[in-house]
Amino acid sequence: MNWLQPICETVAPPVTNICPWLYNTDLNPDMASSTLPGLSSLRLAELLHWAAYLCVLYLVYKVISLFLRKKKLQRVFSSFPGPKRHWLYGNVHEFKQDGKDLDVVNKYAKQFDYGFPIWLGNFFASLVVYHPNYVKAILSRQDPKDNFAYYFITPWIGKGLLVLSGQKWFQHRKLLTPGFHYDVLKPYVRVTSKSVNVMLDKWEKLAPKKEPVELFHHVSLMTLDTIMKCAFSYESNCQNNSENDYIKAVYELSYLVDHRFRCFPYHNDFIYYLSPHGFRFRRAVKTKHEHTERVIKLRKESLKQETEVEMIKQKRHLDFLDILLCAKDENGQGLSDEDLRAEVDTFMFEGHDTTASGVSWTLYCMAKSERFLEIGPQSSGEYPPVPGVARELKEPIAFFDGRSLPKGTVVLLSMFCMNRSPSMWDNPEDFDPLRFSPENSSKRHSHAYVPFSAGSRNCIGQNFAMNEMKVAIALTLPRFELSLDPDNEPKLIPQLVLRSVNGIHLNLKKIEKAS
Ligand code: HEM
Repeated sequence: MNWLQPICETVAPPVTNICPWLYNTDLNPDMASSTLPGLSSLRLAELLHWAAYLCVLYLVYKVISLFLRKKKLQRVFSSFPGPKRHWLYGNVHEFKQDGKDLDVVNKYAKQFDYGFPIWLGNFFASLVVYHPNYVKAILSRQDPKDNFAYYFITPWIGKGLLVLSGQKWFQHRKLLTPGFHYDVLKPYVRVTSKSVNVMLDKWEKLAPKKEPVELFHHVSLMTLDTIMKCAFSYESNCQNNSENDYIKAVYELSYLVDHRFRCFPYHNDFIYYLSPHGFRFRRAVKTKHEHTERVIKLRKESLKQETEVEMIKQKRHLDFLDILLCAKDENGQGLSDEDLRAEVDTFMFEGHDTTASGVSWTLYCMAKSERFLEIGPQSSGEYPPVPGVARELKEPIAFFDGRSLPKGTVVLLSMFCMNRSPSMWDNPEDFDPLRFSPENSSKRHSHAYVPFSAGSRNCIGQNFAMNEMKVAIALTLPRFELSLDPDNEPKLIPQLVLRSVNGIHLNLKKIEKAS
């Protein structure tokens, strides 16, 4: 190849002249050691230069796209007047998680007709709606859940029925619906009453102390116990183990999701991952997943024994886990492990936290009312267990009043504001059980009261929940007289479900049976 060298050198100087330390294998070692660090620092400087340049470009791009997004949102909501917003925080600084957040939203709901935009920071906004015609227009469509609030809970509950959309949602819903058939639910009444009695027995021991009792925690354990037994035939004994790690993890996750929602920098996955809150979130998710996996593993092991499979096949009604584990599509394919865990996590969360909220607030209403014997579980309209749901519009929408929203807008349907709207209810904030009498209900707008949502994405567990709440209330009333603790009124907070910052404290007085 030596004959080629002169030709090449006339076309281009030998590269070895430019980078001798790279190409010259005969290089004097002393020279190599002196040239190498100098050159590498030169290359490093060049690299840093380019990196800085790219960072600046990226930042400029980000700033411009955020600015454009803000302009677009302002245009989208131009026909919806709303509260003033801070130049940096938007409206988020008004929500301090101090028990007054829902009052703030409700104050604005009274001020602005039908709906108003709420800004989290200056680059994300959604429209809060509370007029039944608006709610009906949205729930009659098939818009997916928004990719914001539900996105934050997905690492926790996985992509189960609550967050799925499209064909996969439809398949899962079809698969799971038989698990909530009337005949399947019937035997659960007995199971539920056993769990409720365990709770009431505990209260009986606490009542003589004549000190207010924080009920929400007790009720959460009771509803967890119930769903574990009904849906998974799993004896968790969690009511007698009050330091239950799973319940603690659920509380922690509810708080952290809500916190992330409000803290703008935490909307970025990377920042959240590195933050102390992100660390707490991952730890709680791990606890939760370990719990779920334990439940699935136990059932899978018992299903391995043929006799058990036969027994389940012959059962007239299957429990929820049976349905999930035995489910096969047209190709004979079962649910993947990931899908299975997501559905179990979804039902464990949806199946106990919502009803815990429903039962606790109903008991609180009863303590508040001197007429508590007249009322039923629906009386907690003032305290909806799910204070709101969200959708991301996949098509533009036009409302009855002529206003419209484009595709991509996030809409928050506020059950809390709907149930307290003076235009829909007489004295909405007064406790009036007769509001739900059949006569009054028949006069109402079909979407004025939708605690379980409506349309195709309504609550699959509605009948289960109503049965559980009825059993809990019906068993509590003959055993205890409930009264408020005036020094510790609950402070409402929406943390996926309606909770209280300081819990729900009530006085319990045992009702002695007449001999
Ligand atoms: C008082 C109790 C309950 C209330 C107020 C309630 C309320 C709701 C609401 C408002 C939705 C719609 C959510 C959305 O659109 O994002 C929903 C969906 C759902 N609920 Fe409930 N729920 C309760 C109890 C339960 C129970 C006991 C279960 C299960 C055993 C359950 C399972 C679900 C599931 C899986 C979904 C998603 C359904 C779908 O999108 O197809 N819920 N619930």
